[in-house]
Parts: sequence; C-alpha cells; structure tokens
Amino acid sequence: MFESLLQPVELGKTRLRNRIFNPPHGTTLGHQGMVTDDLIAYHLARARGGVGLIIMESMTVHPSYGFEQAFLYAGSDRIIDGLNRLVQSCRAEGTPVFGQLFHAGRGVRLSHDGSRPLSYSASDVPDERYRVVPVPMPNEMVWEMIESYAAAAGRLADADLDGVEILASMGYLIAQFLNPTSNRREDEFGGSLDNRMRFLREVIDRSRDRIGPDKTLGIRVTLDEKTENALPEGDMIAVCQALDADGKLDYFSVISGSSATPGGWIHVFPPMAVTPGFVVDDAARLKQSVSKPVLVAGRINQPQLAAQIIDAGSADMVGMARALIADPEFVNKVENGRAEDIRACVGCNQACVGHRLAHFPVSCIQNPPSGRERSIGSIGRASKTQTILVIGGGPAGMKAAAVAAERGHRVQLHEISGRLGGQVNLAEALPGRAEFGGVTTNLQRELQNAGVDIQLNSELDAEAVRRIDPQHVIIAIGARPRQPEVEVEGVEMVDAWAVIGGQTVPGNNVVIADWSCDWSGLGVAEKLARDGHHVRLLSGGSVAGESIQAIVRDQWIGVLHGLGVEMTPFARFYGALDGSAYFQHMTGGEAIVCEAVDSIVTCFAPQASRACDWLERLDGFAISRIGDAVAPRTVEEAVLEGFRLGRKL
Ligand SMILES: Cc1cc2nc3c(=O)[nH]c(=O)nc-3n(C[C@H](O)[C@H](O)[C@H](O)COP(=O)(O)O)c2cc1C
Ligand code: SF4
Repeated sequence: MFESLLQPVELGKTRLRNRIFNPPHGTTLGHQGMVTDDLIAYHLARARGGVGLIIMESMTVHPSYGFEQAFLYAGSDRIIDGLNRLVQSCRAEGTPVFGQLFHAGRGVRLSHDGSRPLSYSASDVPDERYRVVPVPMPNEMVWEMIESYAAAAGRLADADLDGVEILASMGYLIAQFLNPTSNRREDEFGGSLDNRMRFLREVIDRSRDRIGPDKTLGIRVTLDEKTENALPEGDMIAVCQALDADGKLDYFSVISGSSATPGGWIHVFPPMAVTPGFVVDDAARLKQSVSKPVLVAGRINQPQLAAQIIDAGSADMVGMARALIADPEFVNKVENGRAEDIRACVGCNQACVGHRLAHFPVSCIQNPPSGRERSIGSIGRASKTQTILVIGGGPAGMKAAAVAAERGHRVQLHEISGRLGGQVNLAEALPGRAEFGGVTTNLQRELQNAGVDIQLNSELDAEAVRRIDPQHVIIAIGARPRQPEVEVEGVEMVDAWAVIGGQTVPGNNVVIADWSCDWSGLGVAEKLARDGHHVRLLSGGSVAGESIQAIVRDQWIGVLHGLGVEMTPFARFYGALDGSAYFQHMTGGEAIVCEAVDSIVTCFAPQASRACDWLERLDGFAISRIGDAVAPRTVEEAVLEGFRLGRKL
C-alpha cells in the first residue's frame, strides 16, 4: 500500500531512501545561533525514525536579521562545526541533511535588547501583521545581502551538508522582492518580473557557484499566499519556470501562506481547521510547469494521504513537520507494517508552534520526549515489576498507564465513565474539532500495545483497591466545572461543559461569561451560533482565546466573526438579574450590561476533583496525583506529567 512512498528518489546528486522529508522548522533548540547537542539529538531521533531527508530550520544570513536567540545564524563560520556534527550523525543513520537560508525582510519584531529593530525590505511598504514600516534597502545593501546568502550557502557546504534550500516563500524577504505590492523599486531590482526576480536569481547563481555542482540546491516557494496583495500564482510559476530553465536548481518545494497578514499566517502553520493536504493541488500545478522534482508539505499527517500524493504524481516527496514532531518513528512504522501505531498529529499547534513562537523548544502535547530527547528521551525497563493502579482515563492517566506498562509494570486503568478521553471528549465534540479526538485514539493504541488492563464504568471502593493490591496508585481523575461565586437571579446559568456535552440546551439569547479564554469559550460560542442562538462572548482577557495558541485562536475568531458572535474583551462577570447580565471592564472599571439574556453559559475556572481523597486513609501503597487532579491546566501538562511519572516508576 505504501510502496511508492518508500521508493528512493534523487534530488540533484543526493539520493534519498524514501519520499518522506522533514521540512524546515524552527526548534529553538539552538543556542546563540549555534547547533547544540539537543538539536543534534532531535534530528537524530527523526533520522533513526527512517525519514528520507531532513531540511533544517531557517538559518539567518545577515546581521540585519540575526536574532540568535530564535534562529541559527549562518552568517558566521562558527556555525560550521556544529552543522558538521549534526550531518555526520544523521548521515550515519541513512538520512541526508539540507540547510535552509532565510531573511524575514520587513517581518521583524525581535531585537537583541527589547527595542524595536530597524527592518529592511525592497521598499517602505508597511507590514500588516508585524505593523512595521521597513527601510528600503539601498542598492549596495541588496548586493551585500545577496553575497551574504551565497557566503552562508558556502558555509553549509563547508559543513558538508548535503544541500541548501533558499526560502523564497511565505512573504519573507525574497517574496517581498518578487511581489510588486511590496517592491516599488526603480533600480534593477524593481519593476518588471525579470527585475523583481533578480534578487532571487543572483542568490541562486552565487550560491551555486559557492557550493559547487555536487551539493543539492533547491528553493521553497509559495504559489498561494492566502492573503490580500498576494503575489499572483501565475507570476510565481513564471519565476519557477525561468529558474528551472537557468538550470542551477535541483528541486522546488511548495508551501502556502504568508507572514505578512494574520490570514496568510494561519496557512504557514495550518491548524486542524485547514484541510489535510491543502497545498497538494498547488504542487501538482507546479510539477506540470517545471522539470525538476517538486516537494510539498502542509497538513500531511497520515501515510495514506502521503502515498496518494506520490501515486497521483502530484509531488515527488511529501513533507511532514508536525507529524514527525508527534511521532519521529512515523516512517519506520510505515515500513514495518505498523502504520496503525502512528501517533498522528492533530493540528492543535499547542506545543510545537506554540512553544516556538514563545521562544521555547518545540515539543508535542502527545509526545513529551519530542524536543526533550536528551533529558527524557527513552522509557527503559523498571528494575522491579510493580502492580500499578491508575484511576482516571483522561490523557494524564492514559499516558502514565501506557508508559508504566511499557516499563514492565502490571498496570490496571480504571475509568468511572464508559469512555476513555476525559476532557478531550468535550473538545472533540465542538464544531470542526473532531480531529482532536485523535489524542484519545493514539493513547488508546499505546495502552493496548503496552498491555494495560482497562476497566471502564468502574467506580472503585476500598475493598476493590485492596483486592487489586497495588504498590502504587495514580490519581488522574481530572477536574470538575464550577460556577463563579456571583449572584444570579431570574436568568438561567449553565456551564459550558454541560452545553458541549449535550446535557443542557440554553435559551435563544446567550451570554458566555468566559473567564478561561480557552477552547471552551470559543468552542461553545461557535456551537451555539451554528445552532441558531444569538451569542455574546465576553472574555476575561485582552482577546477571546487568549490562553490558546495564537494561530488557532486567530482562525477561530475569524469563524466567530463570520457567524455574528459579538465579542467583548476584558470583561469580568459579576452577576445577573431578571434577564440582564452584568460585567465590569477589567481595566476601565465601568459596567458592561447585556440585556435580553435568556441564558448565561459560564466558562469558569474548573476545580481539581477531590473524589479520591478517601484513598489517603488506606495504606500499603504509594499515591501520586497528576494532571488536572492536581490543578486544572491543559492536555499538554496532563500528558507530560503522566509521562514523567510513568517513566519514574
Ligand atoms: C514549529 C515550526 C517552525 C517552523 N519553521 C519553519 C522554518 O524555519 N522555515 C520554513 O520554511 N518553514 C517552517 N515551518 C513550516 C513547516 O516547514 C511546514 O511547512 C508547516 O509546518 C506545514 O507542514 P506540517 O503540516 O507537516 O507541519 C515551521 C513549522 C513549525 C511547526
Ligand atoms: S502539538 Fe499538536 S500540532 Fe504540534 S505536533 Fe503535537 S499534535 Fe501536532
């Protein structure tokens, strides 16, 4: 079934063992712009997992965009040694490594000292997402920049990387030169398409000169920037055709989206609302226009979809960034007939993109060792087998049970309801969020493979615990909703979990009192608006969804706006009387009054469940608490704590 996916392929003179590549993604595992042992361990895990090619994260090339706390810096020879160690490690496992070169142009918010940096672009056209006005590059600076790219490409070759990729996509510097709406220059770099592509062409020509004929050279392009003022697709195809004819490039990699606007940005890190494989048609069109191999990435998280893309001839290789963050063993599992064991990425963006944009190392909510390969990478075997009782079948309990069982313990998992998953079952019930249920499906598979004894509809008492006779009891019973302590009279008040779970249906005019600013407020607002209710969402933060990953939030807010949900930020709920709900502006202090309210739906702080406190009166075993049963947080912390505890036992 996956035969075509596992066929070798050549990009230039680099031979790859299969058609799956790991696309460039910033990991924040470097330090001061240099490669670290953590970064090497991260890529080594994916090379050992069988991936055909690793294209390393964007490396910056010029001091005008250094920012070494976030990016590797290829503008200095100091990068060479670390890169060489990295490529030697991965090559020994059969995986070649390319490096990607990048400059954000006007897309700059970072500086070394906290002040706003100068940003440089083709012209002084402002950027909507970063809200900066760039400095138009003087002509001599453009030539200097081109030289910086070429010098950086030379360093990558000196480090013996197998190839170099030039990032010409996503609205960054090279794309700013290509696009007539951001390039208003009147010198040899502006005006006609030929002039606008001169910057890219010079970078490619000079990079090829530096790296020689034996190293692979490719570019990453965007056909559809999914934004206003996008570079027309026809222009981008014409650019690729001209470069193809120049004969200096070995491949074209296609992606979607742009950094220049909030809407375009969503497609650079597409959340689960974006259809899997959404860039494939673009890749297929480019493939018909150029002679060299075409690579594609973007929400490809299942081997079936990947194989279809190769079988249909839409692309020569498929990229998986987040799919391999979630499961570095993806390719080995495909090869060994264990595709159903793949821990599929669910497109939540939380621990990968979320960590990255907050300048922390990438990880995965489902896979804590990702990005922590050197600190908690292996699970190992316990020296003494114990009987472990896990109470609660949410993500924390499931992960702890699976890891403990993998270490060789006898593990029983008891869940009071008839279904594993805990709060994930609520999150996946929301419109467009069904894929989130993959978290439970994946954990169930881990439990099954590890041999955990799962008991559903099981409420334990002291006698039952004595019969099991555990050495260790893990309490992972999660949290319960609670209502805010305010006076409410003459208006129905219900909690969001009950609405999402279908236990109650609120009246027509709904006000959501959203303390949490997470998925519950946004999700219940969308559900009710789609069901025909008039919805007002009043959130206790600067924006609805403030607590969740920004791209997921931004996409969701666009949906709510389209559904007519009225959103008010900085609103503290303080009561309701006879059809009116009262809030206070959290900074201004004035009242916000909502009239004609039938129901108030609350997304208030949940409470750690204490339902198993009676266990502390028994003896003969150790007790640990994990996840929301300690304090309510998110799936990420639940799984991380479950993993850490399971690995310790
Ligand atoms: C944490 C993270 C950082 C990324 N950084 C880069 C980057 O440095 N350069 C780049 O071209 N793309 C970058 N991307 C985009 C990915 O290469 C890829 O196109 C995108 O994640 C969609 O593919 P996926 O659905 O397989 O994750 C990044 C993606 C993620 C998740
Ligand atoms: S955190 Fe979410 S989006 Fe990121 S790799 Fe894991 S499952 Fe995928």
